[in-house]
Amino acid sequence: MERVVSGIRSTGNLHLGNYFGAIRNFVKMQEDNDCFFFIADYHSLTTHPNPKDLHSNVRQVLVEYLAAGLDPEKATLFVQSDVPEIAELNLLLSMNAYVGELERTASFKEKVRKNPNNVNAGLLTYPVLMAADILIHNAHKVPVGKDQEQHLEMCRKYARRFNGMYKVEYFIEPTPYNFGEELVKIPGLDGTGKMGKSEGNGIYLSDTPKQIQKKVMRAVTDSGPTEPNSPISEPVQNLFTIMDVVSEPSAIEFFKEEYAKCSIRYGDLKKQIAEDIIKFVEPIYNRIQELSDDSAYLQKVAKMGAEKARESAQKTVKEVREIIGFKKF
Ligand code: TYM
Repeated sequence: MERVVSGIRSTGNLHLGNYFGAIRNFVKMQEDNDCFFFIADYHSLTTHPNPKDLHSNVRQVLVEYLAAGLDPEKATLFVQSDVPEIAELNLLLSMNAYVGELERTASFKEKVRKNPNNVNAGLLTYPVLMAADILIHNAHKVPVGKDQEQHLEMCRKYARRFNGMYKVEYFIEPTPYNFGEELVKIPGLDGTGKMGKSEGNGIYLSDTPKQIQKKVMRAVTDSGPTEPNSPISEPVQNLFTIMDVVSEPSAIEFFKEEYAKCSIRYGDLKKQIAEDIIKFVEPIYNRIQELSDDSAYLQKVAKMGAEKARESAQKTVKEVREIIGFKKF
């Protein structure tokens, strides 16, 4: 059985990008793989969450994982900080992660550009901690969206370097995974770029139908095609990309034809998209409401997951220590 590891940062509610980039695959993969899915709360510290909010953020992601269909009887669901061995492996791996290559990481450069006043070392070594998350369970596959591809490449590099340095075949080089397809990038509703928590351009699994409708109706478009078969602009293409994951093929085809004929009405297109997103989100939204108050169940799930994840992590750290040469007196 192959091992699968993936996680989501606990920096806010989950959006459609998280769902279609990651969770959709988690739900499928838990059926016949040995899966470890976690809530990356150590990673969330790069943006300095208020201590009062930290736990409720983690709790919310756990609720949304379960509401979206993760099954704690099939997959190991855990909170990253419940497994401190990850922090030890992070330290050990950081010894052969080079500052130059970390500085060149696209996500780091973007964070520096966006938040020049908070360029902390945790941001720089973010990919090392992520590699520790994955290598600690020696994963074969990592279901992620397109934005994590470079981080995965770095994880593979660290696995390779460790094996080379100690002349062992210990770590597996994990592959980014999306059910035989390309990794996906779900765009935001603001006309450009990906849907993201910090971008404020997302539709959340916890949004009410009214909120969804309002957001979609306000999505950026353009002034409309003026010539038959003219190329589709980025904001409109983004709406079609969202349709690709939530709408019936016949509806997509209809609006593409309307576009090609220059008779498309963006108001109708948006109505259709809003309707299809609501249909998709509503059952998840309802389960979020049901699970939110069930603290006893959430506690049970987190405890069970922490135990299983720690067992696997402790084994890895013990073996890695031996390979590196630590010995007890
Ligand atoms: P995070 O929390 O930003 O996102 C979680 C997952 O959602 C995917 N995703 C998207 N996919 C498609 N389109 C989008 N617009 C979109 N936005 C987010 C991400 O690709 C990701 O799969 N570093 C990770 C968390 C992490 C992790 C790990 C992942 C920590 N350790 C180990 C895998 C393995 C992150 O910040 O993802």
